[in-house]
Amino acid sequence: MRVVIGCDHAGVKLKEHLKKYLKNWGVEVEDMGTFEETPVDYPDIAFPLAKKVAGGDFDRGILICGTGIGMSIVANKVKGIRAAVCWDEYTAQVARTHNDSNILCLGGRVLSFKEAERILKIWIEGNFEGGRHERRVRKILEIERSRGDG
Ligand code: RB5
Repeated sequence: MRVVIGCDHAGVKLKEHLKKYLKNWGVEVEDMGTFEETPVDYPDIAFPLAKKVAGGDFDRGILICGTGIGMSIVANKVKGIRAAVCWDEYTAQVARTHNDSNILCLGGRVLSFKEAERILKIWIEGNFEGGRHERRVRKILEIERSRGDG
């Protein structure tokens, strides 16, 4: 699995931690920054990263800001992206099994490293269940198509 990761200043420490964690599992990770705690604007990270995932350069993406919320708002502007803010093991599992989310958004200011590790592991390993959820995801794609989003 090829994963791309990015963060703003509020997510740098957690990003560095999770990168090591992913590499230990043998997951290929590309880091799109930011690399320092100097303030940056989360749309500048989230939008290009989401386009890379939507374009098929990567299988999945991970975005980290203070809460995960700003990153998810931006990433979900990109057609084909289903970015999910997850804050515990249940939301991580359902974001994959029901929503087929392709970007995980985490809050560097609201999660401990251990909590984030657990969320990430479940999200990375989770598989889409399909079935009734397939129909619902198809409806999301229909909405995108009907808006002529490209
Ligand atoms: C930065 O201070 C903070 O607003 C940002 O990281 C994020 O939480 C936005 O959603």
